[in-house]
Amino acid sequence: MSTLYGTSEGQPAKSRALKLYILVITTSFVRAANATSKRTITQAVRPNAGRQSHQRWSSSQSTYQRMHSTAKPIQSSTTLWAAAAAIVGAGGFYLLSGPSKSQDDLNPSGSHTVPTPAGPQKQLPPAANAKPVNYEEIYKEITNILEADSKWDDGSLGPILVRLAWHASGTYDKAAGNGGSNKATMRFKDESQHGGNAGLGHARDFLEKIHQKYPGISYGDLWTLAGVVAIQQMGGPVIPWRPGRTDGIEGDQTPDGRLPDGAKGIPHLRDIFYRQGFNDKEIVALSGAHALGRCHKDRSGFDGPWTPSPTVVTNDYYKQLLEKTWVERKWNGPRQFQDKETRELMMLPTDMALLEEPGMKKWVQAYAQDEELWRKDFAAVLVKLFENGVPFKKDTKVYHFKTIE
Ligand code: HEM
Repeated sequence: MSTLYGTSEGQPAKSRALKLYILVITTSFVRAANATSKRTITQAVRPNAGRQSHQRWSSSQSTYQRMHSTAKPIQSSTTLWAAAAAIVGAGGFYLLSGPSKSQDDLNPSGSHTVPTPAGPQKQLPPAANAKPVNYEEIYKEITNILEADSKWDDGSLGPILVRLAWHASGTYDKAAGNGGSNKATMRFKDESQHGGNAGLGHARDFLEKIHQKYPGISYGDLWTLAGVVAIQQMGGPVIPWRPGRTDGIEGDQTPDGRLPDGAKGIPHLRDIFYRQGFNDKEIVALSGAHALGRCHKDRSGFDGPWTPSPTVVTNDYYKQLLEKTWVERKWNGPRQFQDKETRELMMLPTDMALLEEPGMKKWVQAYAQDEELWRKDFAAVLVKLFENGVPFKKDTKVYHFKTIE
């Protein structure tokens, strides 16, 4: 049987093919040796030979070959021997060259394809391809790419993967009952071009390589899982995670304006986060993610990191907010703040706004003082963010992935 993962099942098929091949060749030579005059041989000619190698000897393939055989009269025994040699050569090449790479048999959506007598490729129904997804294995794969690009920002893809998971989820509208991580609509042109998503194409591209290897995982599951991996591997708390998101269609895209604008203040933050079902305490707990990563002039227009350790999950965001003196940066860019002392760290107007509202400031203070409290609240609020609007099946397994040392 052919599978998406042709390599593992290709070998037994190949040894069967080898036996059959020897039988066919022996028979051909015996017949050729006995030939005395003109003879007609039927050669099977198949387009695309070599690309579907692991299907070659299946019973349906025999049917296919019968239907597409072309009869060619062979005029002399010399020609007969030449033809026999060609068959030996071609068969030997196939048997030595190994099964075709599984990716050759995949269409862009990752579904398996089979040739049909009509010519064009048709997809197998999804059920025929279904292979249980091993999420622990994907966790490891994502861990392996985190530091694969040493030239990337501060040396880790972790921060941008967290931002991707958040922007995929933060479009949720509780009242409308749409948006969120479920449909992974940032795959489509309009939503990918929303201003708030600038730069996230890089993160999606990094994960695409993993999706090609594990096409059974939905994009929403992959992106949120990548956020979980990034947080945990950068020293954060364990984030319980479960699969269940399905890929949507273009019509599921959310309108622009559902993500926060860093240039604004408290009323805007409340509009954005209350719409998703969060309260003031949860807004503050989520904002601690800005201990990670940095702003990029070519993406948001803002510039610089929030903390001195942008690839480690710490409660530094709250400490910096309270302990540093923040002044407006004088520059040819959007309004942002810089620490007076080193001028190397930054805060957005929305970050500074958390200090203006007593109901929020008290949580900034609590999280600055008690890192464990923040780690616990942060894990809980991230689960809520990543799960908002996802119709999980009852009894879906919740994973508590072990952080890889
Ligand atoms: C409170 C409202 C928020 C605003 C206004 C905001 C705004 C921004 C902006 C302007 C950037 C810079 C993007 C760039 O230029 O590359 C950014 C980066 C980032 N944000 Fe937020 N954000 C908010 C909430 C969150 C939340 C809730 C999370 C996660 C739970 C988060 C995680 C991140 C991370 C990790 C980065 C760094 C990305 C990188 O290094 O490439 N943010 N955010």
